[in-house]
Amino acid sequence: MTDFEPTIVAFFCNWCTYTAADLAGTSRLSYPANVKIIRVMCSGMVDPQYVIKALLEGADGVIIGGCNPGDCHYINGNYKARRRVKLLKEILPSFGFEAERLRLAWIAASDGILLAEMMRDFTEQIKVLGPSAPKLRMVI
Ligand code: FES
Repeated sequence: MTDFEPTIVAFFCNWCTYTAADLAGTSRLSYPANVKIIRVMCSGMVDPQYVIKALLEGADGVIIGGCNPGDCHYINGNYKARRRVKLLKEILPSFGFEAERLRLAWIAASDGILLAEMMRDFTEQIKVLGPSAPKLRMVI
């Protein structure tokens, strides 16, 4: 499985994690091209269905990135995301996916280095897990 290059979908909050990704790019920090970033206004708007649909349609891993505790621009969206991720990790195995295929990361706009490290670390974690259960994939 050494040639396996995972596809990772990342839902990043516009105000913090997406800005950190932008900073990482402008600072010429390298991170894996495996991560496809989708900008959302807040991590709290990431519906659990988005995560499940991404995995069912071929993603090998999903990251939800938001502001640090107390920094959410919509007051408590990141806490909502945390609760949803906890529940998602409990139900993902019933869809045939390991809970480790989902990660929640709180990364501030100024943390481009941390963001690049997190993306590298998560990509390696997904490589170890291997491709997500392709036989269970279906269109919903
Ligand atoms: Fe960033 Fe809510 S605005 S997590």
